[in-house]
Amino acid sequence: MLSTLGLTKRYFDFLLRSKSRYSIHSPFVYELLTRVISINSQYQVVQDIEKLRKKLLKNSTMIEVTDLGTKGLSNDYKRKRTISEITRRYAISPKYGKLLFQLAKHFKPKTIIELGTSLGLSTAYLALSDKDYKVLTLDGCPQTAAIAKQNFESLEMKNVELIVGDFDKTLEEVISKLISVDLAFFDGNHAKEPTLNYFEQCLSKVNEHSLFIFDDIHWSIGMEEAWEEIKGHSEVTVTIDLFQFGLIFFRKEQAKQHFSLRY
Ligand SMILES: C[S@@+](CC[C@H](N)C(=O)[O-])C[C@H]1O[C@@H](n2cnc3c(N)ncnc32)[C@H](O)[C@@H]1O
Repeated sequence: MLSTLGLTKRYFDFLLRSKSRYSIHSPFVYELLTRVISINSQYQVVQDIEKLRKKLLKNSTMIEVTDLGTKGLSNDYKRKRTISEITRRYAISPKYGKLLFQLAKHFKPKTIIELGTSLGLSTAYLALSDKDYKVLTLDGCPQTAAIAKQNFESLEMKNVELIVGDFDKTLEEVISKLISVDLAFFDGNHAKEPTLNYFEQCLSKVNEHSLFIFDDIHWSIGMEEAWEEIKGHSEVTVTIDLFQFGLIFFRKEQAKQHFSLRY
């Protein structure tokens, strides 16, 4: 993970290279920015998700969290945390949750894969954008997954399947049963090699309308290297760096082009 100073420097570099809407010459990206990314939509379900977040933030119940993403790197990959702390540390922010919601609503992905469920807040943003989408969400921690299931019930989310286990064991099987991956949200193991490995696996079921969203692309040098490799992949055309999120498109009619946009 980069130090605060390192991240701040990265953010200034990002501000220098990022474009305003007036200098974007791609109609696809311009429309995406003005009609999806920058709009301030108001939906009741978004308020319901934020109500749930508030409840979770007040919950002092302690559970044992197993983070397979840090297994082998840290002795405390299993540790006790309160639900409140897990929500504060790991859940997607309201701003980026809403962006997930708006992107999913706009692109109408029939099948969504999410790597990293935690307590299920990002899953809720994806699944409640349209109850006809099917969301397959994966996580390796049985205890957080049990709370996520309760959260899905409280929000009446019937279009979600939660698969518990190490991505290294579960992802391949999940993907093998799918016709296509229309949207993939990568928010699990934020390290270079696993990120590239999960990208390659999801790539096997990509179509030209698929969207891949990577969280924390500037979080560490490894994540930045993974992001650069993904951008350079021959099947990838348009990429958008929003600093927190990296968006990847596979649109065949589009020339390869990389954008950095302020969000
Ligand atoms: C940042 S949290 C996900 C947060 C969630 N997307 C949200 O916004 O509410 C990352 C999750 O990935 C899971 N994870 C990390 N590495 C994993 C692995 N190799 N296999 C399965 N789960 C993993 C952790 O258990 C953790 O719950």
